[in-house]
Amino acid sequence: MSLIESLRDALTRRSALLSQLQEQGTDCYRLFHGTQEGIPGMTIDRYGAQLLVQSFHQPLEREALLELADTCNQTLGQTLLLVYNDRSGGHSRIDRSDPVYQAEPAALADLVGHEWGLNYRVRGRHPGQDPLLFLDLRNARGWVKANSQGKSVLNLFAYTCGVGLAAAAGGATTVCNVDFAEGNLAVGKENAQLNPQLPPMQFIQSDYFPAIRQLAGLPIAQRRGQKLPSYPRLAAQPFDLVFLDPPAWAKSAFGTVDLLRDYQSLLKPALQVTAENGVLVCCNNLAKVSMEDWREQVLRCAGKLGRTVHDCQTLTPAEDFPSFDHRPPLKTLILQL
Ligand SMILES: C[S@@+](CC[C@H](N)C(=O)[O-])C[C@H]1O[C@@H](n2cnc3c(N)ncnc32)[C@H](O)[C@@H]1O
Repeated sequence: MSLIESLRDALTRRSALLSQLQEQGTDCYRLFHGTQEGIPGMTIDRYGAQLLVQSFHQPLEREALLELADTCNQTLGQTLLLVYNDRSGGHSRIDRSDPVYQAEPAALADLVGHEWGLNYRVRGRHPGQDPLLFLDLRNARGWVKANSQGKSVLNLFAYTCGVGLAAAAGGATTVCNVDFAEGNLAVGKENAQLNPQLPPMQFIQSDYFPAIRQLAGLPIAQRRGQKLPSYPRLAAQPFDLVFLDPPAWAKSAFGTVDLLRDYQSLLKPALQVTAENGVLVCCNNLAKVSMEDWREQVLRCAGKLGRTVHDCQTLTPAEDFPSFDHRPPLKTLILQL
């Protein structure tokens, strides 16, 4: 099937979802999820007024790109601002002086997208690799918004603080966002400013390991002969709702985030910081880890710590991230402790 036919099919499959999203106050979603919808390495996302087309394996020709954009615009009944990011590497033969590839200044301006009625900063191009809002986590943010009333919320690996914002909108008493990247938290602060009706959130710029260990009241291990970089001091405190969404792999002076080989070292202190009768929402976005194996690991880890899991619910991404094998890469578990 050709690219344009695959896109048309994908848009037809989304017709009910698109109306639901509009009612929900959401205009940020995936229109084409190539790996599952016939063209691996191609994605088309809507972020508010912007249409973000990305190719990861090979660049798109000018005409093909314009036809894709046109088809999306016709379905949505509006003309979105096109941004094309080719991420297929150095062999790209794109003529970058062509205005279609450069994008209009209006498309590259700071824009505002909406999800669950909240405002989010949207930028077609910025120093980081990923768009500022991960769309496959929308259902999880919706769950947090619906389940945060009266709770203290800890958002770990907060990125641009989307989960924190959802918690604040859901009536959380306090929201604490933790991430080591200043630039990501800066966008989180912009997101907070874009929703002035919400109560203020806390932003902690820290590596995960020292932050979670201090919050959980655990000592910070120092390897012999190695001096640790400085880190902000935090008082131990339990949280009613903890959200753990780490990247697949990251290394720092304090430890290694490795979702394939060592989820436990992230999970253990997150379980320990979760209050009795609290909730831990944890994610694993590594496609090669199966839900069955990971769930078993998570439950075993809780058991070893003597934490009773009263309920364990799974949450899947919405239909704009279809997985016809029912094995979405992003897996989410909600543990009632
Ligand atoms: C996959 S994103 C998390 C997505 C996020 N939960 C959301 O709601 O969009 C990974 C984030 O983890 C942060 N990060 C990676 N390693 C870290 C570490 N050791 N300590 C703190 N933050 C870390 C990165 O800066 C990035 O913002």
